[in-house]
Amino acid sequence: MKTATFDRPTEPTHDTVGVTTMKAIVQDKYGSAEVLHLRANSKPAIGEHDVLVRVRAAAVNPADWAIMGGLPYIARPAPMYGLRTPKNGIRGTDVAGQVEAVGSAVTLFRPGDEVFGWCRGAFAEYAAASEDGLVVKPANLTFEQAATLPMAGSVALQALRDHGDVHVGQKVLVNGASGGIGTFAVQIARSLGAEVTGVCSTSNVDMVRSIGADHVIDYTRVDFTKSGERYDFILDNISNRSLSDLRRVLTPTGMLVPNGGQFQNRWFSSAGRLIKAMVSFRFVSQRLGRFVVAQKHDDLIALKELIDAGKVTPVIDRTYPLSQTAAAMDYVGTGHARGKVVISV
Ligand SMILES: NC(=O)c1ccc[n+]([C@@H]2O[C@H](COP(=O)([O-])OP(=O)(O)OC[C@H]3O[C@@H](n4cnc5c(N)ncnc54)[C@H](OP(=O)(O)O)[C@@H]3O)[C@@H](O)[C@H]2O)c1
Repeated sequence: MKTATFDRPTEPTHDTVGVTTMKAIVQDKYGSAEVLHLRANSKPAIGEHDVLVRVRAAAVNPADWAIMGGLPYIARPAPMYGLRTPKNGIRGTDVAGQVEAVGSAVTLFRPGDEVFGWCRGAFAEYAAASEDGLVVKPANLTFEQAATLPMAGSVALQALRDHGDVHVGQKVLVNGASGGIGTFAVQIARSLGAEVTGVCSTSNVDMVRSIGADHVIDYTRVDFTKSGERYDFILDNISNRSLSDLRRVLTPTGMLVPNGGQFQNRWFSSAGRLIKAMVSFRFVSQRLGRFVVAQKHDDLIALKELIDAGKVTPVIDRTYPLSQTAAAMDYVGTGHARGKVVISV
Protein backbone atom coordinates (compact mmCIF):
# COMPACT_ATOMS: atom_id res chain seq x y z
CA MET A 1 0.00 0.00 0.00
CA LYS A 2 1.39 3.45 -0.94
CA THR A 3 2.02 5.90 1.89
CA ALA A 4 2.78 9.51 1.01
CA THR A 5 5.99 10.90 2.45
CA PHE A 6 5.67 13.75 4.95
CA ASP A 7 8.34 16.25 5.89
CA ARG A 8 7.11 18.83 8.44
CA PRO A 9 5.34 19.35 10.83
CA THR A 10 5.26 15.84 12.27
CA GLU A 11 2.60 16.59 14.91
CA PRO A 12 -1.07 17.17 14.01
CA THR A 13 -1.55 20.89 13.38
CA HIS A 14 -5.26 21.06 14.20
CA ASP A 15 -4.74 20.76 17.97
CA THR A 16 -2.57 23.84 18.03
CA VAL A 17 -4.32 27.16 18.67
CA GLY A 18 -3.64 29.85 16.09
CA VAL A 19 -1.62 27.77 13.61
CA THR A 20 -2.08 28.68 9.99
CA THR A 21 -0.82 25.44 8.48
CA MET A 22 -2.44 22.07 8.09
CA LYS A 23 -1.56 18.67 6.68
CA ALA A 24 -2.76 18.21 3.14
CA ILE A 25 -2.24 15.91 0.18
CA VAL A 26 -0.75 18.19 -2.47
CA GLN A 27 0.21 17.70 -6.12
CA ASP A 28 2.50 20.13 -7.97
CA LYS A 29 2.25 18.39 -11.33
CA TYR A 30 -0.06 16.07 -13.24
CA GLY A 31 0.57 12.34 -13.21
CA SER A 32 -0.23 9.06 -11.49
CA ALA A 33 -0.63 8.81 -7.69
CA GLU A 34 3.14 9.30 -7.18
CA VAL A 35 2.58 13.06 -7.67
CA LEU A 36 0.63 13.21 -4.38
CA HIS A 37 2.58 14.26 -1.27
CA LEU A 38 1.51 14.74 2.34
CA ARG A 39 2.75 18.20 3.31
CA ALA A 40 2.29 21.20 5.53
CA ASN A 41 0.16 23.66 3.58
CA SER A 42 -1.58 26.94 4.39
CA LYS A 43 -5.08 26.57 5.78
CA PRO A 44 -7.55 27.77 3.14
CA ALA A 45 -8.72 31.37 3.39
CA ILE A 46 -12.50 31.88 3.47
CA GLY A 47 -14.65 34.65 1.99
CA GLU A 48 -17.70 36.20 3.63
CA HIS A 49 -20.09 33.49 2.30
CA ASP A 50 -17.68 30.63 3.03
CA VAL A 51 -17.28 28.07 5.78
CA LEU A 52 -13.99 26.56 6.97
CA VAL A 53 -14.57 22.86 7.62
CA ARG A 54 -12.37 20.73 9.86
CA VAL A 55 -12.36 17.70 7.55
CA ARG A 56 -13.20 14.40 9.21
CA ALA A 57 -13.79 12.39 6.02
CA ALA A 58 -13.53 12.91 2.25
CA ALA A 59 -14.75 10.65 -0.55
CA VAL A 60 -12.60 9.80 -3.58
CA ASN A 61 -14.26 10.03 -6.99
CA PRO A 62 -13.08 9.03 -10.47
CA ALA A 63 -13.08 12.79 -11.20
CA ASP A 64 -10.32 13.28 -8.58
CA TRP A 65 -8.29 10.56 -10.27
CA ALA A 66 -8.86 12.16 -13.70
CA ILE A 67 -7.92 15.70 -12.57
CA MET A 68 -4.83 14.31 -10.77
CA GLY A 69 -3.68 13.06 -14.18
CA GLY A 70 -4.82 16.19 -16.06
CA LEU A 71 -7.15 13.98 -18.11
CA PRO A 72 -8.69 14.33 -20.57
CA TYR A 73 -6.29 16.93 -22.03
CA ILE A 74 -9.20 18.78 -23.66
CA ALA A 75 -10.53 19.62 -20.15
CA ARG A 76 -7.39 21.49 -19.04
CA PRO A 77 -8.73 24.99 -19.80
CA ALA A 78 -11.55 24.30 -17.28
CA PRO A 79 -11.29 26.16 -13.92
CA MET A 80 -10.59 23.04 -11.82
CA TYR A 81 -7.60 22.02 -13.99
CA GLY A 82 -4.71 24.22 -15.21
CA LEU A 83 -2.99 24.00 -18.59
CA ARG A 84 0.45 22.66 -17.58
CA THR A 85 0.15 22.13 -13.83
CA PRO A 86 -2.91 21.93 -11.56
CA LYS A 87 -4.15 25.39 -10.47
CA ASN A 88 -5.27 24.02 -7.12
CA GLY A 89 -2.92 21.29 -5.88
CA ILE A 90 -5.37 19.73 -3.39
CA ARG A 91 -7.93 17.26 -4.78
CA GLY A 92 -11.23 16.19 -3.24
CA THR A 93 -14.69 17.75 -3.58
CA ASP A 94 -16.76 15.63 -1.17
CA VAL A 95 -16.40 16.45 2.51
CA ALA A 96 -17.89 15.75 5.92
CA GLY A 97 -16.65 17.40 9.07
CA GLN A 98 -17.14 20.08 11.69
CA VAL A 99 -17.50 23.79 11.07
CA GLU A 100 -14.32 25.48 12.31
CA ALA A 101 -15.05 29.08 11.30
CA VAL A 102 -17.59 31.00 9.22
CA GLY A 103 -17.44 34.09 6.98
CA SER A 104 -19.14 37.30 8.13
CA ALA A 105 -22.24 36.79 5.92
CA VAL A 106 -22.84 33.12 6.80
CA THR A 107 -26.19 32.53 8.50
CA LEU A 108 -26.80 28.77 8.19
CA PHE A 109 -23.91 27.44 10.27
CA ARG A 110 -21.79 28.17 13.32
CA PRO A 111 -18.57 26.63 14.66
CA GLY A 112 -19.05 23.07 15.90
CA ASP A 113 -21.90 22.16 13.50
CA GLU A 114 -21.47 18.78 11.80
CA VAL A 115 -21.89 19.14 8.04
CA PHE A 116 -21.36 17.41 4.69
CA GLY A 117 -21.27 18.68 1.13
CA TRP A 118 -19.16 20.16 -1.66
CA CYS A 119 -15.83 21.83 -0.93
CA ARG A 120 -12.55 22.92 -2.48
CA GLY A 121 -9.70 20.55 -1.55
CA ALA A 122 -11.09 17.86 0.77
CA PHE A 123 -7.88 15.78 1.04
CA ALA A 124 -6.59 17.94 3.89
CA GLU A 125 -7.23 18.73 7.55
CA TYR A 126 -9.25 21.83 6.59
CA ALA A 127 -11.26 22.75 3.51
CA ALA A 128 -13.19 25.83 2.41
CA ALA A 129 -16.77 25.50 1.17
CA SER A 130 -19.54 27.87 0.13
CA GLU A 131 -22.29 28.09 2.70
CA ASP A 132 -24.80 26.86 0.11
CA GLY A 133 -22.60 23.84 -0.69
CA LEU A 134 -23.11 22.37 2.78
CA VAL A 135 -25.95 20.76 4.72
CA VAL A 136 -26.19 19.50 8.33
CA LYS A 137 -24.93 15.91 8.51
CA PRO A 138 -27.61 13.25 9.00
CA ALA A 139 -27.40 12.26 12.67
CA ASN A 140 -27.50 8.54 11.86
CA LEU A 141 -24.46 8.64 9.53
CA THR A 142 -20.76 8.59 10.38
CA PHE A 143 -18.58 11.29 8.83
CA GLU A 144 -17.26 8.63 6.43
CA GLN A 145 -20.77 7.71 5.29
CA ALA A 146 -21.84 11.35 4.92
CA ALA A 147 -18.77 12.16 2.80
CA THR A 148 -19.89 9.63 0.17
CA LEU A 149 -23.02 11.60 -0.69
CA PRO A 150 -22.27 14.82 -2.62
CA MET A 151 -20.88 13.71 -5.99
CA ALA A 152 -22.12 10.14 -6.39
CA GLY A 153 -25.47 10.81 -4.72
CA SER A 154 -26.10 13.96 -6.78
CA VAL A 155 -25.25 12.23 -10.08
CA ALA A 156 -27.64 9.38 -9.30
CA LEU A 157 -30.40 11.73 -8.15
CA GLN A 158 -30.09 14.16 -11.06
CA ALA A 159 -29.86 11.38 -13.66
CA LEU A 160 -32.88 9.43 -12.41
CA ARG A 161 -35.19 12.10 -11.02
CA ASP A 162 -34.42 15.14 -13.19
CA HIS A 163 -33.27 13.77 -16.53
CA GLY A 164 -35.10 10.44 -16.54
CA ASP A 165 -38.20 11.58 -14.68
CA VAL A 166 -38.20 7.99 -13.42
CA HIS A 167 -41.49 7.04 -11.82
CA VAL A 168 -43.52 4.19 -10.36
CA GLY A 169 -43.65 1.04 -12.48
CA GLN A 170 -40.86 1.98 -14.88
CA LYS A 171 -38.06 -0.42 -15.67
CA VAL A 172 -34.61 0.99 -14.92
CA LEU A 173 -31.25 -0.61 -15.70
CA VAL A 174 -28.06 0.56 -13.98
CA ASN A 175 -24.88 -0.55 -15.72
CA GLY A 176 -22.09 -0.43 -13.13
CA ALA A 177 -24.56 -0.94 -10.27
CA SER A 178 -21.83 -1.84 -7.76
CA GLY A 179 -19.81 1.39 -8.07
CA GLY A 180 -20.04 4.68 -6.21
CA ILE A 181 -22.82 6.10 -8.37
CA GLY A 182 -24.42 2.74 -9.10
CA THR A 183 -25.02 1.87 -5.45
CA PHE A 184 -26.85 5.19 -4.95
CA ALA A 185 -28.69 4.85 -8.28
CA VAL A 186 -30.10 1.41 -7.43
CA GLN A 187 -31.47 2.70 -4.10
CA ILE A 188 -32.80 6.00 -5.49
CA ALA A 189 -34.50 4.25 -8.45
CA ARG A 190 -36.20 1.94 -5.96
CA SER A 191 -37.29 4.92 -3.86
CA LEU A 192 -38.89 6.42 -7.00
CA GLY A 193 -40.90 3.21 -7.43
CA ALA A 194 -39.03 1.72 -10.38
CA GLU A 195 -38.31 -1.95 -11.04
CA VAL A 196 -34.51 -1.98 -10.96
CA THR A 197 -32.00 -4.18 -12.76
CA GLY A 198 -28.38 -3.85 -11.70
CA VAL A 199 -25.44 -5.01 -13.82
CA CYS A 200 -22.28 -6.01 -11.95
CA SER A 201 -19.70 -8.81 -11.67
CA THR A 202 -20.14 -12.10 -9.79
CA SER A 203 -18.62 -10.96 -6.49
CA ASN A 204 -21.00 -7.99 -6.28
CA VAL A 205 -24.28 -9.76 -7.13
CA ASP A 206 -25.34 -10.29 -3.50
CA MET A 207 -24.44 -6.72 -2.48
CA VAL A 208 -26.41 -5.18 -5.38
CA ARG A 209 -29.41 -7.36 -4.53
CA SER A 210 -29.10 -6.44 -0.84
CA ILE A 211 -29.43 -2.69 -1.61
CA GLY A 212 -32.72 -3.24 -3.43
CA ALA A 213 -32.17 -4.34 -7.04
CA ASP A 214 -35.12 -6.46 -8.21
CA HIS A 215 -32.92 -8.20 -10.78
CA VAL A 216 -29.16 -8.54 -10.98
CA ILE A 217 -27.26 -9.41 -14.15
CA ASP A 218 -23.73 -10.78 -13.74
CA TYR A 219 -21.88 -9.26 -16.68
CA THR A 220 -19.29 -12.03 -16.67
CA ARG A 221 -22.03 -14.50 -17.63
CA VAL A 222 -24.80 -12.59 -19.38
CA ASP A 223 -24.76 -9.69 -21.85
CA PHE A 224 -27.68 -7.46 -20.79
CA THR A 225 -28.00 -6.09 -24.32
CA LYS A 226 -28.95 -9.59 -25.48
CA SER A 227 -31.41 -10.42 -22.72
CA GLY A 228 -34.52 -9.52 -24.75
CA GLU A 229 -35.71 -7.27 -21.90
CA ARG A 230 -36.49 -3.58 -22.57
CA TYR A 231 -35.96 -0.66 -20.20
CA ASP A 232 -37.54 2.80 -19.84
CA PHE A 233 -34.31 4.23 -18.48
CA ILE A 234 -30.66 3.14 -18.62
CA LEU A 235 -27.98 4.78 -16.49
CA ASP A 236 -24.72 3.69 -18.13
CA ASN A 237 -21.77 4.27 -15.79
CA ILE A 238 -19.42 2.11 -17.87
CA SER A 239 -19.87 2.79 -21.62
CA ASN A 240 -18.70 -0.67 -22.61
CA ARG A 241 -21.57 -1.45 -25.01
CA SER A 242 -22.20 0.03 -28.43
CA LEU A 243 -24.89 2.68 -28.75
CA SER A 244 -26.89 0.44 -31.10
CA ASP A 245 -26.80 -2.40 -28.52
CA LEU A 246 -28.04 0.00 -25.83
CA ARG A 247 -30.79 1.36 -28.06
CA ARG A 248 -31.97 -2.20 -28.74
CA VAL A 249 -32.83 -2.68 -25.04
CA LEU A 250 -34.53 0.71 -24.61
CA THR A 251 -38.30 1.02 -24.99
CA PRO A 252 -39.38 3.12 -28.03
CA THR A 253 -39.43 6.30 -25.87
CA GLY A 254 -36.84 5.16 -23.33
CA MET A 255 -33.92 7.31 -22.19
CA LEU A 256 -30.19 6.58 -22.04
CA VAL A 257 -27.91 8.59 -19.75
CA PRO A 258 -24.35 7.83 -20.91
CA ASN A 259 -22.70 8.79 -17.66
CA GLY A 260 -19.24 7.39 -17.67
CA GLY A 261 -16.35 5.62 -19.21
CA GLN A 262 -12.64 5.17 -18.77
CA PHE A 263 -9.90 7.44 -20.07
CA GLN A 264 -8.36 5.24 -22.79
CA ASN A 265 -8.60 8.28 -25.05
CA ARG A 266 -6.40 10.71 -23.09
CA TRP A 267 -7.31 13.66 -25.30
CA PHE A 268 -11.07 13.45 -25.47
CA SER A 269 -12.20 10.68 -23.06
CA SER A 270 -15.75 9.76 -24.10
CA ALA A 271 -16.47 12.99 -26.04
CA GLY A 272 -16.44 11.13 -29.39
CA ARG A 273 -18.98 8.61 -28.14
CA LEU A 274 -21.18 11.43 -26.84
CA ILE A 275 -21.16 13.23 -30.18
CA LYS A 276 -22.05 9.96 -31.92
CA ALA A 277 -24.88 9.45 -29.42
CA MET A 278 -26.19 12.99 -29.95
CA VAL A 279 -26.31 12.40 -33.69
CA SER A 280 -27.86 8.93 -33.58
CA PHE A 281 -30.55 9.89 -31.03
CA ARG A 282 -31.67 12.88 -33.16
CA PHE A 283 -33.47 10.65 -35.58
CA VAL A 284 -35.29 8.27 -33.19
CA SER A 285 -38.02 8.50 -30.56
CA GLN A 286 -35.64 7.25 -27.86
CA ARG A 287 -34.04 9.99 -25.77
CA LEU A 288 -30.52 10.88 -24.68
CA GLY A 289 -30.09 12.45 -21.21
CA ARG A 290 -26.52 13.72 -21.15
CA PHE A 291 -25.45 15.99 -18.29
CA VAL A 292 -22.64 17.15 -16.05
CA VAL A 293 -23.45 16.98 -12.35
CA ALA A 294 -24.54 20.27 -10.77
CA GLN A 295 -23.64 21.18 -7.18
CA LYS A 296 -27.11 21.94 -5.81
CA HIS A 297 -27.94 22.70 -2.19
CA ASP A 298 -31.49 21.37 -2.65
CA ASP A 299 -30.13 18.03 -3.87
CA LEU A 300 -27.97 17.66 -0.75
CA ILE A 301 -31.14 18.22 1.28
CA ALA A 302 -33.01 15.66 -0.88
CA LEU A 303 -30.21 13.14 -0.29
CA LYS A 304 -30.30 13.82 3.47
CA GLU A 305 -34.08 13.23 3.42
CA LEU A 306 -33.60 9.90 1.63
CA ILE A 307 -31.04 8.93 4.30
CA ASP A 308 -33.30 10.09 7.15
CA ALA A 309 -36.20 8.09 5.66
CA GLY A 310 -34.03 4.96 5.53
CA LYS A 311 -34.39 4.74 1.74
CA VAL A 312 -30.68 5.16 1.00
CA THR A 313 -27.65 3.84 2.88
CA PRO A 314 -24.14 4.59 1.62
CA VAL A 315 -22.03 1.57 0.66
CA ILE A 316 -18.38 1.98 1.65
CA ASP A 317 -15.75 -0.30 0.17
CA ARG A 318 -12.50 0.89 1.77
CA THR A 319 -11.44 3.66 4.16
CA TYR A 320 -7.85 5.00 4.08
CA PRO A 321 -6.04 7.44 6.39
CA LEU A 322 -5.05 10.79 4.83
CA SER A 323 -1.41 9.62 4.55
CA GLN A 324 -2.55 6.81 2.20
CA THR A 325 -4.57 8.95 -0.19
CA ALA A 326 -2.28 7.89 -3.06
CA ALA A 327 -3.27 4.25 -2.48
CA ALA A 328 -6.94 5.24 -2.37
CA MET A 329 -6.59 7.10 -5.69
CA ASP A 330 -4.82 4.10 -7.26
CA TYR A 331 -7.67 1.86 -6.13
CA VAL A 332 -10.38 4.15 -7.53
CA GLY A 333 -8.35 4.32 -10.76
CA THR A 334 -8.75 0.55 -11.22
CA GLY A 335 -12.47 1.12 -11.96
CA HIS A 336 -13.43 -1.75 -9.64
CA ALA A 337 -14.36 -0.06 -6.37
CA ARG A 338 -17.33 -1.65 -4.62
CA GLY A 339 -19.36 1.37 -3.49
CA LYS A 340 -17.39 4.36 -2.23
CA VAL A 341 -13.74 4.82 -1.22
CA VAL A 342 -13.25 7.24 1.67
CA ILE A 343 -10.35 9.11 3.29
CA SER A 344 -10.60 9.38 7.07
CA VAL A 345 -8.86 12.50 8.36
N1 LIG B 1 -22.00 13.06 -15.49
C1 LIG B 1 -21.24 13.49 -14.52
O1 LIG B 1 -21.25 14.71 -14.19
C2 LIG B 1 -20.39 12.53 -13.75
C3 LIG B 1 -20.03 12.86 -12.43
C4 LIG B 1 -19.28 11.96 -11.71
C5 LIG B 1 -18.85 10.77 -12.30
N2 LIG B 1 -19.17 10.50 -13.60
C6 LIG B 1 -18.68 9.26 -14.23
O2 LIG B 1 -19.51 8.18 -13.83
C7 LIG B 1 -18.78 6.96 -13.95
C8 LIG B 1 -19.06 6.07 -12.76
O3 LIG B 1 -18.56 6.69 -11.59
P1 LIG B 1 -18.49 5.88 -10.23
O4 LIG B 1 -18.08 6.85 -9.17
O5 LIG B 1 -19.69 5.06 -10.03
O6 LIG B 1 -17.26 4.90 -10.57
P2 LIG B 1 -16.68 3.69 -9.71
O7 LIG B 1 -17.15 3.78 -8.31
O8 LIG B 1 -15.22 3.66 -9.96
O9 LIG B 1 -17.36 2.41 -10.42
C9 LIG B 1 -16.71 1.23 -10.30
C10 LIG B 1 -17.70 0.09 -10.57
O10 LIG B 1 -17.83 -0.15 -11.96
C11 LIG B 1 -18.06 -1.55 -12.13
N3 LIG B 1 -17.69 -2.07 -13.43
C12 LIG B 1 -16.45 -2.10 -13.99
N4 LIG B 1 -16.52 -2.70 -15.21
C13 LIG B 1 -17.82 -3.04 -15.41
C14 LIG B 1 -18.53 -3.66 -16.48
N5 LIG B 1 -17.89 -4.07 -17.58
N6 LIG B 1 -19.86 -3.82 -16.37
C15 LIG B 1 -20.52 -3.40 -15.26
N7 LIG B 1 -19.89 -2.83 -14.19
C16 LIG B 1 -18.56 -2.64 -14.28
C17 LIG B 1 -17.16 -2.15 -11.07
O11 LIG B 1 -17.69 -3.43 -10.72
P3 LIG B 1 -16.78 -4.76 -10.85
O12 LIG B 1 -15.59 -4.53 -9.97
O13 LIG B 1 -17.70 -5.79 -10.37
O14 LIG B 1 -16.40 -4.86 -12.30
C18 LIG B 1 -17.21 -1.15 -9.92
O15 LIG B 1 -18.09 -1.55 -8.89
C19 LIG B 1 -17.31 7.36 -14.09
O16 LIG B 1 -16.90 7.15 -15.44
C20 LIG B 1 -17.31 8.83 -13.77
O17 LIG B 1 -16.27 9.53 -14.46
C21 LIG B 1 -19.94 11.35 -14.33
